[in-house]
Amino acid sequence: MPAKPLLLQGGRVVDPASGTDAAADVRIERGTISALGQGLSGDGATVVDCRGLVIAPAFVDLHTHLREPGREDAETIESGSRAAALGGFSAVCAMANTNPVADSAAVVEQVFNTGRAVGLVDVYPVGAITVGLEGSTLAELGEMHDSKARVNFFSDDGRCVQDSGLMRRALEYARAFDAIVANHAEDAGLAGDGAMNEGEVSGLLGLPGVPNEAEELVIARDLALTRMTGGRLHVPHVSTARSVELIRAAKAIGVNVTAEATPHHLSLTDTLVASFDSVYKVAPPLRTRADVDALRSGLIDGTIDCVATDHAPHAREDKEREFDKAPPGMLGLETAFAVLSTELVATGLLSLGDLIVRMSTAPARIRNLDGHGGPIASGAPATLVIFDPEARWVVDAARLASLSDNTPFAGRELQGKVVHTLLRGKFSVRDGEVVDGQG
Ligand code: DOR
Repeated sequence: MPAKPLLLQGGRVVDPASGTDAAADVRIERGTISALGQGLSGDGATVVDCRGLVIAPAFVDLHTHLREPGREDAETIESGSRAAALGGFSAVCAMANTNPVADSAAVVEQVFNTGRAVGLVDVYPVGAITVGLEGSTLAELGEMHDSKARVNFFSDDGRCVQDSGLMRRALEYARAFDAIVANHAEDAGLAGDGAMNEGEVSGLLGLPGVPNEAEELVIARDLALTRMTGGRLHVPHVSTARSVELIRAAKAIGVNVTAEATPHHLSLTDTLVASFDSVYKVAPPLRTRADVDALRSGLIDGTIDCVATDHAPHAREDKEREFDKAPPGMLGLETAFAVLSTELVATGLLSLGDLIVRMSTAPARIRNLDGHGGPIASGAPATLVIFDPEARWVVDAARLASLSDNTPFAGRELQGKVVHTLLRGKFSVRDGEVVDGQG
């Protein structure tokens, strides 16, 4: 029996894909938006009171670590899907640094199938660029692309492809099927055993640093190779002011590049490391205020196309070690929207519509994810986030759905709260709680 129609009543629809920002009811039948407008009848429908709430296309994350297969104690595809849905996401791209590595059709299909079986968000696997993330042999990109998972996005994230010849070949090969190569930009020699940003704070703390140039050199090289090959490059987790300048200049001459920044790089600085709390360790490292400000300007002017979380769960026994020995990474899915709504929208730096572009419309377009990122229009899938833009809440690490608790935002009061998330007309989150049994 088909589910009863839904009527989302009295909300404000903000949909950059169709240029909508207006009060409207949304009627949903069989997973699809069937009507949009003011004063729609609730006859025969389950009415959801959306007064005071914003209805937008659900968020899309191009950069999520789910840890399955291999480290299911830190996160599973299911727990990560729950975290994503609670954060307002309908699609996440699962990074390849699992064990085994997602460098074959078998592993990407396994991740894809498990994601579908959980059914809370669409999980799109990212394929490794090189076999075993070893940086020496190109993985079977074509095989992963032709698999059921239809992988069109490749990354060794967590590791940088150091070999320029190999990076050139990856861009050339991926071009054959219009796929994207996303290289974690970190020159190994310059990064050395750096544990934080190299600068005044690392000098004071006596911790080894990673200079900005470790990122900028690789981005400059990759932009040159992208221009040379006519390939498509995506720059993950941009963290420095000059990286933003490099990408801006490359875009100006038509290089086919897109870029992302994380909520943590857009809001936190390396001064937090003075606590020696390893929750603030991340790769690339938290940088300076000037870098944060440049990233914000880049996000505002579109040089940085989108936000991506780099959600990187780590088990407590791994993460709670001395700063220089702890693994890098921070949780992001459940706090991304609220952090940016607090830091950028409530402060007047970015409009709500532009934040929705950066968290939904743009990332969906980069990876060609039909059915995500809007539009909110009659006939389109009802894949939506419904949030309260004014609600304030305090992040409680113990109450997150993630199996790990390494959030740098614990105890922070944030403004903007996801209330419901819908995937093709079904609630994955309703009234702030995950709705199970979607599969
Ligand atoms: O901090 C990070 N953690 N950065 C990465 O690029 C990888 C990630 C991880 O897998 O933990």
